[in-house]
Amino acid sequence: MGLLIRNTLAVLPNGNGHAVGRHDLCIEGDSIAGIDEAPEGFAPNEAIDGTRLLTIPGLVNAHTHAYMSLMRNAADDLSFGDWLFGAVVPIERRLEPEDSYWASLLSQAEMIRSGTTCFNDMQMHVGQTSRAVLESGMRAVICRALAGDTYDCDDQRITEALRERDEFAGCGRLSFLLGPHAPYSCGPDYLRMVADRAREEGMGIHIHIAESQGESMRVWARHHRTPVEYVRDAGIFDVPTVAAHCARVSASDRAILADHGVSVATNPASNMKLGNGFAPVPELVEAGVNVCLGTDGAASNNAQNMFREMGLLALVHKGARESPQCVSADDALRMATRGGARALGLPCGSIEVGKRADLALLDLDTPSLTPLGDPVAALSYAANGSEVSTVIIDGKVVLRHRELTTIDEERVRFEVARICRRLGLDRT
Ligand code: NI
Repeated sequence: MGLLIRNTLAVLPNGNGHAVGRHDLCIEGDSIAGIDEAPEGFAPNEAIDGTRLLTIPGLVNAHTHAYMSLMRNAADDLSFGDWLFGAVVPIERRLEPEDSYWASLLSQAEMIRSGTTCFNDMQMHVGQTSRAVLESGMRAVICRALAGDTYDCDDQRITEALRERDEFAGCGRLSFLLGPHAPYSCGPDYLRMVADRAREEGMGIHIHIAESQGESMRVWARHHRTPVEYVRDAGIFDVPTVAAHCARVSASDRAILADHGVSVATNPASNMKLGNGFAPVPELVEAGVNVCLGTDGAASNNAQNMFREMGLLALVHKGARESPQCVSADDALRMATRGGARALGLPCGSIEVGKRADLALLDLDTPSLTPLGDPVAALSYAANGSEVSTVIIDGKVVLRHRELTTIDEERVRFEVARICRRLGLDRT
């Protein structure tokens, strides 16, 4: 069993940047087994002619909430507080576990179609999402969103999250983190308890930090610390942590994140849409922080398209600082691929022998990639995701000639429409 992509234009890692050239890629089982040189005994049962394809590592969406596709275009142009507490939370209270199954399949269909192969998901219904990931063939890191005040508060959610982790332990594409929601929804004793449990269980953490100015002010008023200091002092950074947003972090906050090896998942569209600014990416990189890229949920983005996110990531910093070099196309692509893989501790995110075969193949015969010019610039500034024609995850083709092979998209759209009617979110 094997898959050969012959003579494709491939984007390989080269230091902090990329080297693009023509290669034969040999896939055996779930991994890239050879580049140009086939491994011994390699006998592919499928070959793809890559002559007119640009092959890139599958994009890693380092922060999202897949179930929020139900809330796409449902709560817009609102302040962060009105959006979260006035619109999103009331809808979340009415969700049934199975809603998350269909909603996350919808998000996954959108992600696969736009070249994303792996996502880091903060969820309400871990089991239903895991079931959807088993079926879709995607790679995912899932956590249950946790909130509370006291040390033993809501221990039940953690027990449930661990039980669901154990239930799906057999799937190599799935891994699990603990997900204390944010500094404003978790008290210090509760954060301490989650950090203790994560250490005991050998798990990492996925958390939102310093998303809005209001959060920073509230945390300062209550705890006399910045959100980063507050989370550090609760022991969260003693385990591997992915911190979403970090839109408001001072120089000393950035040094704390770097010292503790915290990865920051920046979410340009979501942060800007909610009027929260955006993370100081050039300064985070300069401080030595691993920066990765996420869409955040469709309730605030409103898409799950990493190509749009890469473009925004590169453009907003150039515009805001009047500096065209501060985040380059190479930087954006690196953060969207191996930056995310590193944050999640996964052997994917780059085209290298031994890495998981998670790849997106873009059709070069498309207007947005003609002429191609610099392929890395094309990915960050010109591509919009519609060029993705084939997607391979864990060595298996999940999108072929723009057709999903694992997800019944028509059924998913039907079920999501049914759920949205029940929730009063359907305006058709
Ligand atoms: Ni989020």
